[in-house]
Amino acid sequence: MEQGLDIRGSRVPKFAYRATDRIPSTLDRMSATSHTESRSDTDRKHVFHPFSVLQRHEQSGPRRMMVRASGSTVYDEDGRGYLDAMAGLWCVNIGYGRRELADALHDQTLRLAYYHSFSSMATDTPALLAERLIDLAPEGMSKVLYGTSGSDANDTQIKLVRLYNNLLGRPQKKKVISRRRGYHGVTIASGSLTGFDGMHQGFDLPMEGILHTTPPYRLREALPGESDADFVARLAAELDALIVAEGPDTVAAFIAEPVQAAGGVIVPPDGYFPAIQEVLRKHDVLMIADEVVCGFGRLGTWFGSDLLGIEPDLMTVAKGITSAYFPLSACLVSERVWRVLADESGERAFGHGYTYTSHPLAAACALANLDVIERDGLVAQAGERGARLNARLREAFDGHPLVGEVRGRGLIAAVEFTAGTEPTRLFDPIGRIATRVDAECLERGVITRVLPDSDTISFSPPFVITEAEIDEVVAVAREAADVVAAEIA
Ligand SMILES: Cc1ncc(COP(=O)(O)O)c(C=O)c1O
Repeated sequence: MEQGLDIRGSRVPKFAYRATDRIPSTLDRMSATSHTESRSDTDRKHVFHPFSVLQRHEQSGPRRMMVRASGSTVYDEDGRGYLDAMAGLWCVNIGYGRRELADALHDQTLRLAYYHSFSSMATDTPALLAERLIDLAPEGMSKVLYGTSGSDANDTQIKLVRLYNNLLGRPQKKKVISRRRGYHGVTIASGSLTGFDGMHQGFDLPMEGILHTTPPYRLREALPGESDADFVARLAAELDALIVAEGPDTVAAFIAEPVQAAGGVIVPPDGYFPAIQEVLRKHDVLMIADEVVCGFGRLGTWFGSDLLGIEPDLMTVAKGITSAYFPLSACLVSERVWRVLADESGERAFGHGYTYTSHPLAAACALANLDVIERDGLVAQAGERGARLNARLREAFDGHPLVGEVRGRGLIAAVEFTAGTEPTRLFDPIGRIATRVDAECLERGVITRVLPDSDTISFSPPFVITEAEIDEVVAVAREAADVVAAEIA
């Protein structure tokens, strides 16, 4: 609302409401003639955008202003539709515009929009959701601690790991090992887990006690001629050596995404996680599975842990839990960890939690989302559509002069552009080619995503994407890559 100054110089709304006025709906606001500047201009002037070039945004405003969406298509303010091959940020798994979720949010808003969960107070909907999550989760999970984002949940995981070891009388056992190119969030702690220099620089990260090891990224990390088995054995030995060098009594946990999503859609070779788990077991190091992207069906199974042989002690979920219709995350805690936290803390209260922990609206939204996924068989569908997406991408880019690798699993895939293979040669500056291809895709009405510190574009569409839409995404991506290849030829 526009504002003016009142007599005392404080800010007041310029067009003050009368008590009897109806509060405008969102649609009313968007069509209000009193608001004369374009929405893009309003955004440019007032919104601080994440992961964006600040100065450029302040000068030029948004690349696109999206105003509505349905199925796998989002529409901008000019009415142009874009096939969203990224489901937002790997999250709108059941597709856009679902009435079931709107109804669930509506009903819960009127019944009980909010009550807190501190001091053993409770609301009913989060309890039902927790029961459902534990039923779905891998063996051994016991309790659910809710948050609102993947970042805050991974932050909480670090606190749980610290508390666990403090309660066990092991105050030295606190370090957490992550992987380079892992993406675990952006808070001080979760941003430290994230394994990208670009997300550390300027923020004085990583914080003390967070270490990074090599990811199972064959294209960039395997030695010439190295077999999968040898590569896996080498990575496991490297982790073992790191833990031994730091001192096993100082290393508390290892965190990993089943498939590293933002890191490049890095699918580990067979046997990777079982080999890693063996090292962790040997040194009594907890396994935290970050299922923020893979959880709730993305890989064609409920969780990536089920598919890849991960046995988590702690598990982080977000994104697909509500298909992003409402912010929600959760730390799933195994009985093994829970027993220590509960039994060893005696009468001391657990000194952690957010205003929005166990938010009933989020829980209602998640329950409806899980209902849709189960009723419509969307986990299996993600597997089937994913097989098509990956096969089509491989066909389309086989032998393409710019392409180093096409990789993926389930309904997640990536195309990495390289200047040469065997040995891999990267373009300089890195990211230039992927940025151009991504821009050409957008021009042609398809949204992909450029991944950091590589020349890779990714695909992670809604599970409801149709077979024809998959074929269109792949055809457009190929055409875009051809345009860029011609440019640099
Ligand atoms: C695997 C993973 N973990 C954590 C996060 C952080 O989640 P959020 O952006 O909700 O804080 C992300 C976000 O993309 C992610 O991909």
